[in-house]
Amino acid sequence: MRILVLVSGTGSNLQAVIDAVDAGELDIEIVAVGADRPDTQGVARSAAAGIPTFVVDFKAFAQRADWDAALLAEVRSFEPDLVVSSGFMRIVGPDFIAAFPQRYLNTHPALLPAFPGAHGVRDALAYGVKVTGCTVMYADAGIDTGPIIAQRAVTVLDDDTEASLHERIKVAEREVLIEVLAGLAR
Ligand code: GRF
Repeated sequence: MRILVLVSGTGSNLQAVIDAVDAGELDIEIVAVGADRPDTQGVARSAAAGIPTFVVDFKAFAQRADWDAALLAEVRSFEPDLVVSSGFMRIVGPDFIAAFPQRYLNTHPALLPAFPGAHGVRDALAYGVKVTGCTVMYADAGIDTGPIIAQRAVTVLDDDTEASLHERIKVAEREVLIEVLAGLAR
């Protein structure tokens, strides 16, 4: 199974996938890693691992539709079976969703449908929930609204900060993501 991973940030979840592939635990090929901005750690990690990388810089395009088209063309050129958004902080356009029906995977650091959006961890903490977690789903045109594939609960501790809670959620997120990828590859 050829996967292409999109990142915007540190790519620590991506690193877990790279490590699982290297360890022979995951029978997939990461054909490329792409980002929506220059100088991400996610792209640097991938380049260090010998994976082809690309950047389609959102800020370099005057029109949103042009960025959408450039991203789609770049992703298509690698002919992936599955695209994985791993901390990719952009909603892709309708053409992208249509090009990868049930082939565009996303992860979210909350138990959807609770706390969608860019601040799932912060919002869960602010609400005062005692249990939150992570979700792996197929992306659709909405914000964190696609069909759910797998979830895992994470207990909120009394002294949690957004950072400490997000770190524990990411541990769960990595496990669930790798399990889902392994299942899809099988
Ligand atoms: C993950 O929690 C993901 O769900 C969220 O951003 C985080 C990505 O972290 N959207 P990293 O870039 O893999 O370290």
